[in-house]
Amino acid sequence: MTGGGGYFSMLKLLEITLNGGTNPSTGICLCPEDDDLSTFRSYDDLERAFKRQIGYYLEFLPVCANAVASAYAAGTPTPLLSAMMTHRIEAAVDHSEGGVRLLQLHLGGDRNFQYLLGSRADGRVAAVDPGFAPDRLHGTAETRGLKIEVILVTHGHADHTGGVTRLADLTGAPVLAGRAAGVPGARAVVDGETIPFGKFAITALHTPGHAPDHVCYLGGGYLATGDLLFCGKVGGTGPPFPGSSAEQEWASLQRVLQLPDATIVLPGHDYYGGAGTMTHSTIGHERAHNPFLAGDFAAFCELKENWAAYKKEHGIR
Ligand SMILES: [Fe+2]
Repeated sequence: MTGGGGYFSMLKLLEITLNGGTNPSTGICLCPEDDDLSTFRSYDDLERAFKRQIGYYLEFLPVCANAVASAYAAGTPTPLLSAMMTHRIEAAVDHSEGGVRLLQLHLGGDRNFQYLLGSRADGRVAAVDPGFAPDRLHGTAETRGLKIEVILVTHGHADHTGGVTRLADLTGAPVLAGRAAGVPGARAVVDGETIPFGKFAITALHTPGHAPDHVCYLGGGYLATGDLLFCGKVGGTGPPFPGSSAEQEWASLQRVLQLPDATIVLPGHDYYGGAGTMTHSTIGHERAHNPFLAGDFAAFCELKENWAAYKKEHGIR
């Protein structure tokens, strides 16, 4: 096997030629930076390692593959990495209300959302889950006169942490996460900890389930739910997500459902679990309409098991 390519944070992009086996071939792979490629003999090996080490999303593979195929078709292999990581870049959406400044950004990855959340009065904000485009996130803040005071990570999966180091370098802001391990430069927050900056404050809520280190961040009536709660859907658990627990996720969901109905839900992904689109929600709406929250824990688990069929039946992407 031979390889060479570009690096992006904890991932590396490799153009790999598999010389052995019955199907010698060349292709593009993403893998964790510290993996020893000499132990891999097939793309299946790479995929297994990827899922094991960073909780790889099953939905992410086809997204990457499409971006790579498009770049090759256009005869532009050099920007492969940026094509893969920023395949869907959209302008920031301003959901500010009252005294709160809230920008929602879609900067690539696996339909990942990033957020800038703080006080409208002083423009000092937290950046939630930098994702894979920290320069664009930083640029968005600068052009709108916002200063990133702290970087908050909901959990240690790479699509949420990819740009942490770069954004910390750009801003000098501290990085906070549920667990320091696996998040470069992070300090671990304590459940219930208040994080003050400027005229604003955010509270960290430990919400394990999708990942053991998962944290939601609550401030100004907004709740960044990471991969615990999406619009009409909940975070994945099971073998693709090391350390995950459906029981813990259910308990964490019950915890955030205690918040006031008007609390605005800011999901970590654009994974609307219904037909059409929905980029943010409220606790009240999710309590009333999210199919995973309609019954008891047994029904919750049953829907997880049958989600593929449910999606197909209801026309959900
Ligand atoms: Fe995740």
